Amino acid sequence: MLDGGDLMGKRNKNDQHQTRFLCEVTGDFGYDGIGLGEADLNYGLDFLKEMIQKYDLPYTSANVVDRKTGELILPEYLVVEKNGIKFGLVSVLGTRHKIITMTNTDSGLEVKDPVTTLRDVLPRMRKEVDTIVLLGHLGQGDTDTVVREVKGIDICIMGHTHRILKSERIVEDTIFLAAPHEGRYAGRADLFIDDTNGKVMAVEVELTSLDEAVEDEPEMALRVEGYKASFEEYKLAKRAAFPRDLGSEKESYLGSRSCKGCHEDTWAAYTESSHSNATSSIRAKGQAKEPECILCHTTGYRYKNGYAEERPFNQLSNVQCEACHGYGTEHARDGKWLAQAQDSCVTCHDKENSPEFDYATYWEKIKH
Ligand code: HEC
Ligand code: HEC
Ligand code: HEC
Ligand code: HEC
Repeated sequence: MLDGGDLMGKRNKNDQHQTRFLCEVTGDFGYDGIGLGEADLNYGLDFLKEMIQKYDLPYTSANVVDRKTGELILPEYLVVEKNGIKFGLVSVLGTRHKIITMTNTDSGLEVKDPVTTLRDVLPRMRKEVDTIVLLGHLGQGDTDTVVREVKGIDICIMGHTHRILKSERIVEDTIFLAAPHEGRYAGRADLFIDDTNGKVMAVEVELTSLDEAVEDEPEMALRVEGYKASFEEYKLAKRAAFPRDLGSEKESYLGSRSCKGCHEDTWAAYTESSHSNATSSIRAKGQAKEPECILCHTTGYRYKNGYAEERPFNQLSNVQCEACHGYGTEHARDGKWLAQAQDSCVTCHDKENSPEFDYATYWEKIKH
């Protein structure tokens, strides 16, 4: 059983939580080899290593090294024996797939050229194994280039492409196999091997769609249900760390559109400011559901009747007028609202998130 890489989820904490479970059950499936995809480093190298150790995940990569030491971060290749045939499993990552971790913009890792790497490692593997399988996390174009330029790959499992190969495809002497993402399909290849030299003579490919027609395995279905419940608890616990205990149940946020009619000029200034787009910044980071980001990138998150994911409170996205001035239902004209707004800045523009903050220069940029 082989996987072409990118097992891990997107770069946010909810996905990371689900990824732990995915790694646990993937470990139980008993894979023989998993190629390294750039997404497998989404939560950093330490997390990947923790998963490998805890769940016995047979990750391999021949071209991703620690930039400082130059050492490979994973085993260079794996050897597995099936029915007396020795398979060598080797994986390379394409250089155009950027490694970006959730915590650091610089991963400290370097991706070596796949062609040079394979030209070096393949002859050494040949001495040990009968059949060489490339777990190529390369994308379409680069897979073709690599296979053409490096001779001696018997089978190439294509990762990163999300492609479906339903029938046999052979380029030069290499057999290509691919099954798309998210565990929607399982591919199976039956190899007919010449037992005098271990060479693959013929191959039969079958791709099964794991849709409703395929019944859930009862024990696994139970585990998935159990996990889903614990995931809900996890999300609730995270939300509970930011209780909605400020303000008053009697007051409401009306939304900035309700101010527009009477405060046209202010509205115009507001829509020019980045406050009116603040939620898209966290969405762009895949963090629009994280309480620890929503806190400052929406309106009134810690307040009663403030921003929440459910309607109508989800309309309070972005840093709207009332994030600074307070509940619209309290509309005051005695100067209280101005003072309140002046004091509001530093609740969000704290040292950590806005180190350059200075009231005079910042107000100048959003004044109305
Ligand atoms: C305590 C309030 C606060 C929290 C919590 C917070 N931010 Fe921010 N964030 C700000 C402020 C204020 C700025 C503007 C900083 C500046 O320009 O001085 C900002 C700016 C940003 C920007 C830059 C916007 C741009 O494109 O220029 C991004 C991206 C961002 N935050 C993402 C996040 C993410 C992701 C989280 C959660 C992990 C988060 N923020 C949590 C207050 C916060
Ligand atoms: C980022 C915080 C912030 C946001 C968002 C914001 N304001 Fe203000 N607003 C202030 C501050 C601070 C002042 C007071 C400035 C001063 O006079 O020192 C102010 C002043 C005002 C004033 C008085 C202007 C005057 O000259 O007397 C009005 C009216 C007003 N805001 C309406 C709005 C409306 C309507 C919106 C939304 C379209 C809005 N504000 C969005 C912070 C904000
Ligand atoms: C029906 C018209 C109307 C609506 C709607 C309205 N305002 Fe006002 N607002 C006024 C008037 C009138 C004043 C006083 C004259 C002025 O300063 O412009 C005022 C004053 C203010 C002031 C200055 C307060 C002070 O103490 O000087 C702020 C801040 C303000 N409005 C914010 C808002 C915000 C935020 C909203 C939307 C939630 C809003 N207003 C909606 C009419 C309105
Ligand atoms: C509810 C939280 C919150 C409050 C209150 C708040 N801000 Fe912000 N502010 C943000 C966030 C978040 C951003 C980043 C917006 C984005 O995602 O691009 C930001 C961005 C800005 C920027 C743009 C920075 C840049 O260089 O592009 C200015 C200027 C600014 N705020 C001024 C103020 C001032 C002045 C106040 C107080 C009157 C204030 N803000 C109150 C959250 C807040």
